[in-house]
Amino acid sequence: MDKIVIHGGARLNGELRVLGAKNAALPLQCAALLGDGPTTYRHVPRLSDVQTMSQLLVGLGCAVEGDRTLTIDPTGVQDGPKEAPYELVKTMRASVTVMGPLLGRHGFARVSLPGGCAIGARPIDQHLRGFEALGAKIRMSHGYVEVKAKRLKGARINFDMATVGGTQNVMMAAAMAKGTTVLENAAREPEVQELAIVLGKMGAKIAGAGSPTIEIEGVDALQGIDHAILPDRIEAGTFAIAAAITGGDLLLLDAPSSHMHAVIAKLEEAGVRCRVEPEGLRVIGPDELAPIDLVTRPHPGFPTDMQAQMMVLATLARGQSVITETIFENRFMHVPELCRLGADIHVNGNVAVIRGKARYTGSIVMATDLRASACLVLAGLVAEGKTEIRRVYHLDRGYETIEKRLRKVGAKIRRYHGAPS
Ligand code: EPU
Repeated sequence: MDKIVIHGGARLNGELRVLGAKNAALPLQCAALLGDGPTTYRHVPRLSDVQTMSQLLVGLGCAVEGDRTLTIDPTGVQDGPKEAPYELVKTMRASVTVMGPLLGRHGFARVSLPGGCAIGARPIDQHLRGFEALGAKIRMSHGYVEVKAKRLKGARINFDMATVGGTQNVMMAAAMAKGTTVLENAAREPEVQELAIVLGKMGAKIAGAGSPTIEIEGVDALQGIDHAILPDRIEAGTFAIAAAITGGDLLLLDAPSSHMHAVIAKLEEAGVRCRVEPEGLRVIGPDELAPIDLVTRPHPGFPTDMQAQMMVLATLARGQSVITETIFENRFMHVPELCRLGADIHVNGNVAVIRGKARYTGSIVMATDLRASACLVLAGLVAEGKTEIRRVYHLDRGYETIEKRLRKVGAKIRRYHGAPS
C-alpha cells in the first residue's frame, strides 16, 4: 500500500489549478443513464471513486471511455442487469445514486443496501420514501433493495432532512415520471444545482434547484449531452487552508468562490486574506491565526466536508475554538491522530473544543476517511520533521495526485508506492 511522507515547515507559494468536483462528477455519471445516446463529460477528476462509478456503469451495460474526458453510452443498459452489486456499493456509497435513473428510465433497479460507513450510519430511507411517493414498489431481500414501477407518477415529497444524495436520486427518477414532482426541503448544494443544469441540457424540465423547493415536470425522453464539470469547492477549500496555515500565498485557479462563501468567511475570521481574482481565489496566510467557532450545516452553511481541514487551522490559532458537527454522527475520527501529532482537542459528543497554538511534531499516522486524510496532510505540512501517512487510498478517492500538486507550490511531500500499511 502507498504512503505519503511530508517534511513540514515549507511555505506554499504559487498557483494551483482546482480540478473537477468529485461530488458533482459521481451523480453526473449516473445521470448519463437517462440519455438516449452517449454523454461526454469534460474536466473529470482522475479519482478512484470516479473509476468505481465507471466500473458500476459498465456492469450495468454502459460503454465507458476516457478519463479526463469521459464518454458514457448507456445504450446497452436496456438488456443489462440493472443491479449495483455489494462489492461496489460497499466501497462507495454514492453507487446508490444509479437507483433513481434506472428506476425512472427502465422501471427497475436492484441495489445492495450500503450499510454504515466510517463517518456514520448514513441510511437511504429518504431516497426510498421519495421513490415510493412516485409510485415505486420497494422490496428488501438478501441485503438488496429492489425498486420497481411501470411508470412513475409525479408527487409532492417533503424530505425529513436536506439530503444531497436523496435529492439527486429522486430528482433523476422524477425527470422521467408522468406529471409534476415537487421536492420540498431539498438539498441546496452546488452539486444538486449542477445535476439540475445537466438534466436540463438533456431535456428535463427542472426549476428551483439551489433553493429548498425543486419542481420537476416529467418528460418522455432525454438525450445525451456534452458538459464540463464544475471545479471542486472542497479541494479549493483544502488548498486554501494549506496556504493559510503555512503563511503562504496561493492563487487557486478556477476556484468556485461563489460556492465557498461560508469557508471564505471563516478563513477571513481567522485572519486569512482571501481575494477573488479574475483567474481564481488568492489566499494569503497571516503571521498569526485567530480562533474560530463553527457549526457544520447543509449548504449554504459551513460544509461538513471542510470540517476536519478547518480543525487543523483551529489547532494552530491563538486561543480556543469550538467546532460542532451536525451532519454526520462520527466525523471526528481525525481527532486522535491530530492529537498524536501535538494538537489539544477535547471531544464531547458532536462538539470539539480546540486549544490553539499546537506545536506539531511529525509521526506515523493512519488515514481513516477521505477528509480525515486531507487534514493529516495539512498537519504534516506544518509539523516539525517527518510525517508519514498510511492508508492513502482514502486520499485518492477525492484528491487527484495531491502530492505532485502540493510539491509544485513548495511542499516537501512524496508518495512511496507499495509501502507496508
Ligand atoms: N440521511 C438519512 N437518510 C437518508 C439520506 C441521508 O438519514 O435517506 C442523513 C445522513 O446519514 C447524513 C445526512 O442525512 O447524516 C446528510 O446526508 P446526505 O444524504 O446529504 O449525504 P450524501 O449524499 O450521502 C454527500 C457527499 C458527502 C457529503 C454529504 C453532505 C457525495 C458523493 N457525497 O453525501 O461527501 O459529506 O453529501 O454534504 O456527494 C466527501 O466528499 O467526503 C463526502 C462524504
